[in-house]
Amino acid sequence: MQHYLTATRIDVLHSPFVFELFQQCIAKEVNLLPYQNIENIREQLRSVQTEITFEDFGASQNSRKVKVKDLANQHLKPPRIAQILNRIILYKNYSNVLELGTSLGISACYLANAPQAFLTTIEGSKAVWQQAQQTFEQAKLTHKVISLQGTFDQLLPEVLAKKPMFDFIFIDGNHSYEATMRYVEILNPFLSENGLLILDDIYWSPGMTKAWKETSEKFTVSIDLFFIGILSKRQGQVKEDFKLRVW
Ligand SMILES: C[S@@+](CC[C@H](N)C(=O)[O-])C[C@H]1O[C@@H](n2cnc3c(N)ncnc32)[C@H](O)[C@@H]1O
Repeated sequence: MQHYLTATRIDVLHSPFVFELFQQCIAKEVNLLPYQNIENIREQLRSVQTEITFEDFGASQNSRKVKVKDLANQHLKPPRIAQILNRIILYKNYSNVLELGTSLGISACYLANAPQAFLTTIEGSKAVWQQAQQTFEQAKLTHKVISLQGTFDQLLPEVLAKKPMFDFIFIDGNHSYEATMRYVEILNPFLSENGLLILDDIYWSPGMTKAWKETSEKFTVSIDLFFIGILSKRQGQVKEDFKLRVW
């Protein structure tokens, strides 16, 4: 509610870069039609009763049994957010995309679902990663996705050595202050000049709120959509922070 009341309206947005991104990618109606195959997979996952071991390398650091349907209901980006990510990749014609936190592979399908896009995505929990492989096969996206199993800390050095620049980086795992600050610091030099770095759940906890505040200070443009935060290091642009109302 507070975000809604304090957010900037589009008609008073003065930055052409942000205005364009907002109009073309963010402020669009949810449209399930182009994404029907991905949403059908999400719907199927929501009914899978199988229990798998979820090893959490994120904020809680524990290992527990979970039903696939519970992960599908609780962990995945909803269509409205996933569609914003997909529209940005399409509109900006981004090709090298990196995701930290694959889970069952639903947001990954949205990120890879652009003709020019190639996605590298990392998931720590083995059983969850295995389930994601089925998602990519069902979505017929295996040729566009490199899906790696291991922790972000284990795999990032290898990933960054192979593909030096990314246009779009989505951090959706390990929502703690320290981890978020560390991943942003590691990844920032590997974000292309016109690229975007997206942080998920920026108000999930006091730690994430602090991480969002501090990281947005380090980038030229920050766009707070409440559920996600978008960061850009565009050169030649004055430092501006935006808080926008999406719906
Ligand atoms: C919120 S879920 C990702 C949801 C997914 N992006 C989607 O919307 O479809 C976060 C995932 O990140 C993984 N994760 C968290 N911390 C990790 C770490 N340090 N290394 C590897 N994976 C991690 C978790 O196992 C979990 O599956």
